[in-house]
Amino acid sequence: MLSIKNLHASIEDKEILKGINLEVKAGEVHAIMGPNGAGKSTLASIVAGNENYEVSQGTIELEGEDISELAPEERAHKGVFLSFQYPVEIPGVSVTNFMRTAINESRKAKGLADMPANEMLKLIREKSELLEIDRKFLSRSLNQGFSGGEKKRNEIFQMAMLEPKLAILDETDSGLDIDALRIVANGVNKLKSKDNAVVVITHYQRLLEYIVPDFVHVLMDGKIVKSGGKELALELEEKGYDWIKAELV
Ligand SMILES: Nc1ncnc2c1ncn2[C@@H]1O[C@H](COP(=O)(O)OP(=O)(O)O)[C@@H](O)[C@H]1O
Ligand SMILES: [Mg+2]
Repeated sequence: MLSIKNLHASIEDKEILKGINLEVKAGEVHAIMGPNGAGKSTLASIVAGNENYEVSQGTIELEGEDISELAPEERAHKGVFLSFQYPVEIPGVSVTNFMRTAINESRKAKGLADMPANEMLKLIREKSELLEIDRKFLSRSLNQGFSGGEKKRNEIFQMAMLEPKLAILDETDSGLDIDALRIVANGVNKLKSKDNAVVVITHYQRLLEYIVPDFVHVLMDGKIVKSGGKELALELEEKGYDWIKAELV
């Protein structure tokens, strides 16, 4: 699904990613953990195509195709989804209408006609039931006055509707209350399948009590310094990141 090899990237001449290697197969859930400033969000942004960073070395492949030169929209159309840490408010545009536009944009890019209205309604109904999202929520203005939990619900709804091949969820944790954590975890658990993959980025182990990852990677100072199973997350919770640093010297 996703194959990252020797990825180096910088911003304003400061090297942030220093040789990332990551292989994510279909059907897998990977967690990326690490201290603040390690480069986790940078990695997520670069995979999604953020053009503010300069990739100086390495490759990013999605299903065997090098996507590193593609624009963010093109990557999205190929099935890469990145959660938004800072969602924009769009007054007067409902959650449903925003989604309808996004889906039709993506179809247009593939040379398909707009999704027929009845099909769209069916899809919205199916996904909102799966995620236990109520009707009233769907008609609210996008992100306007949304609580933290509602923003997460909207994000997970978008993910459910778009059915990405690769979902990257960058969870800052700050402001993620237990409700929001459950919404994200519930969404990921319900949407995961043998055909898609999820990368969850998190600072704390807490989220991983609800989403059980197949693999956990520790990102420190721009490199993945340790990988393991879900027990690695527990170990990190218990011992912090310092013991890994000590192991490395
Ligand atoms: N736009 C930017 N301009 C300058 N420095 C940045 C920018 N984005 C990230 N950085 C720096 O890159 C490093 C990694 O940041 P980030 O990827 O956000 O870390 P994490 O998500 O692991 O906390 C930090 O030192 C941060 O200050
Ligand atoms: Mg971050």
